[in-house]
Amino acid sequence: MRGVLHRYGTNLRLTERTPLLSLGEGSTPLVACRNLGGELGIELFAKYEGLNPTGSFKDRGMVLAVAKALEAGSRAVVCASTGNTSASAAAYAATAGIPCHVLLPAGKVALGKLAQALIYGAKVIAVRGNFDTALDLARDASRRLGLAIVNSVNPYRLRGQRSAAWEICDDLGDAPDWLAIPVGNAGNITAYWAGFVQYARSGKASRIPRMMGFQAEGASPMVRGEDVPQPETVATAIRIGRPVNARKARWAVRRSGGAFAAVSDPEILEAQRILASREGLFAEPASAAPLAGLLALARRNELPRGIRVVMVLTGNGLKDPDAALGKTPAITEIDGNWSSLEEVFRS
Ligand code: F0G
Repeated sequence: MRGVLHRYGTNLRLTERTPLLSLGEGSTPLVACRNLGGELGIELFAKYEGLNPTGSFKDRGMVLAVAKALEAGSRAVVCASTGNTSASAAAYAATAGIPCHVLLPAGKVALGKLAQALIYGAKVIAVRGNFDTALDLARDASRRLGLAIVNSVNPYRLRGQRSAAWEICDDLGDAPDWLAIPVGNAGNITAYWAGFVQYARSGKASRIPRMMGFQAEGASPMVRGEDVPQPETVATAIRIGRPVNARKARWAVRRSGGAFAAVSDPEILEAQRILASREGLFAEPASAAPLAGLLALARRNELPRGIRVVMVLTGNGLKDPDAALGKTPAITEIDGNWSSLEEVFRS
């Protein structure tokens, strides 16, 4: 299976000593969302990143970060995570044959992500504190113990994540008008922007999209313009109050003519349900923030008609079934005979 390193190696500064790791990451579908696009009066696509090997976009940068760590002779990796980074780091460390240490905010990681880190064989450490505290500790561990840190402070992470922007341009034949994306630590929005800029410079795209970053209201430092000491949201993936890539992301948004906006937890959960039930796309709550934002803009008549929008569905909904089940209809239970079933269909 050809992964990101095989397909985009020339753009990723590989050397002949970089091991070509792959779990088959990247090449995710760009799905046309005709039902919702029609309703919103736009041409809407979803970049379905939940179909990466560990179920999130993190794999694109993790494969490069772990390959480069191996190349540099690192003997172990470390990261802090709200869940997806740890799942990805654990998987790539497993295939690379090196230990992985992950620091998670205690009690605030979706069960599927926790199961992933554990089954891939990572050493899982729960930190009493939020993600921002866990990241401070991971950086300490990297500095003091010489472990390779594979959070998005590692430049290879963001470089690998650019590949998603390249795939979008390759699929559409050009960049879209808007890119709508959830923002937590503010790395991915920065990576997409850099990817689009790189393609525009090399003549493979005619424009750079407006970068539209969406945060959860309770964890929206980019919108408020200041750190949030106690971030809180149902979208645990983006429960971050002090984004390490804030400065770069602000620059990307300003340069592209985009904006940051916040959406509420009820809006996120409603958008998650709409996305699944209207388009057949099951994404985790954080990934529904962009659709929640587009729906809110449309309600206020602030969504330009006819534009081409790509929203990034960053993580798979299966990672966090608890969040999804809160809003689903009740299940009908029946006795195992035809008359009971017939009654259900009649009512
Ligand atoms: N969506 C999902 C599903 C995520 O897991 C993350 C980040 C984001 C969006 C935001 O991306 O941080 O680059 O702005 N998850 C990190 C983690 C923090 O630890 O898994 P960002």
